[in-house]
Amino acid sequence: MFKRPIAIGLSPNNQADDLKYVYKALFSPNCFKSGKFTGLLSSWFMDYLKSDNVFFFNSGRSALFCLLKSLSIGPGDEVIVQAFTCVAVPDPVIWVGARPVFTDIDASLNIKIESLEKAVNNKTKAIIVQHTFGIPANINKIKKIAQKYGIYVIEDCAHSLGAELDNRKIGALADAAFFSFGRDKVVSSVYGGAAVIYNNDKAKRILSRLHRSLPKPSLFWIFRQLLHPLAFSVILPFYNVHIGKVILFLLFKMKLLQKPVEKCELIAGKPDNFPAQMPDVLAGLLLSQLLKLTKFNKNRKKIAARYFARLKNSPDFGLPPEIKNAVYLRFNILTEDSADLLIYFKKRKILLGNWYKNIIDPKNVSFKTLGFNPDKFINARKFARLSLNLPTYPNMSVEDADLIVNLLNEYADKKHQR
Ligand SMILES: Cc1ncc(COP(=O)(O)O)c(C=O)c1O
Repeated sequence: MFKRPIAIGLSPNNQADDLKYVYKALFSPNCFKSGKFTGLLSSWFMDYLKSDNVFFFNSGRSALFCLLKSLSIGPGDEVIVQAFTCVAVPDPVIWVGARPVFTDIDASLNIKIESLEKAVNNKTKAIIVQHTFGIPANINKIKKIAQKYGIYVIEDCAHSLGAELDNRKIGALADAAFFSFGRDKVVSSVYGGAAVIYNNDKAKRILSRLHRSLPKPSLFWIFRQLLHPLAFSVILPFYNVHIGKVILFLLFKMKLLQKPVEKCELIAGKPDNFPAQMPDVLAGLLLSQLLKLTKFNKNRKKIAARYFARLKNSPDFGLPPEIKNAVYLRFNILTEDSADLLIYFKKRKILLGNWYKNIIDPKNVSFKTLGFNPDKFINARKFARLSLNLPTYPNMSVEDADLIVNLLNEYADKKHQR
């Protein structure tokens, strides 16, 4: 009973050393905004990406917004974004005054090349390439198309820190890239993002100037993010005995915890606290997580390997592509019963994931505001309907994965007997 439930979300990355760090940091508000960690974080990323400029923000959205500005993208311009994504991707395109133009996806849940070719026109300035769930997109083909038309390629690495393609790091393959360190990303500082630009001195200079001009978030905003891992560490052991859920509800209600997407963003509004620089105390939390990046991703790959081994011959579940250097932030299976299965597992106190079941997540995003017509994207609609995300988080064991597979098979057996 008093054990963390198997749950794909609920702050899945926190480890004891992160909690210790946060607990100590909470009592030093004078170090919230500035300190030694930002420089250390920059060094880590510059070494990782072999770049001389990486900038840190208070979200992936802030990072993307500043990237687009630095590439001088604005009113009258179009930016290609795939369907089957989070509203946090097309929104910054609108925030800079440009228009998001959507494409369909292929079976890897990344941009479909044929759809991309059709979307390009003389207003297109950039393509945002999402490596969905940590599976690398076909960036080489995308770059060829972009080169032909003189369009920037921006990698969206929100799901894919640590993934590689042809022995090269995702995030270092195109003109620019951004990362997210949101609460259930590969590594997490609850809210956070990074942006990098390659081979474009003018854009690098603008990004650097823009970043310098940004404020740090307020002390209360920072306090809320620090409270997040601590609150979850206390609540999670009681999550399945209701009291945990009640406390969590109250903390959100009292606005002591912050939701991942604000209401105004559903209609492409920009929250006041974006864009801002990453506060130093969250840079410290991120560094603490980055020390464990290899270990985290090794576990994700181990859990994914287990799902592959156990589900490979199942006629009931479609599996993601098996790729050596993907990170499988979420192991997305395809099933006609995805909605039922979410409930089936919830009743058994296991929380699976529903990322992108709304095609553009979360629920209630205004497609009209985004200029998005779901009817045009057959694959995105199909995969959104069929998708069910299985967890692969850092502390998850092979036994947990086996339990999930056993329940999936049990469900399928019951269905066949009906
Ligand atoms: C694919 C993808 N890109 C970008 C983002 C934006 O990141 P952030 O939440 O840090 O703004 C998200 C966020 O959830 C995402 O799923």
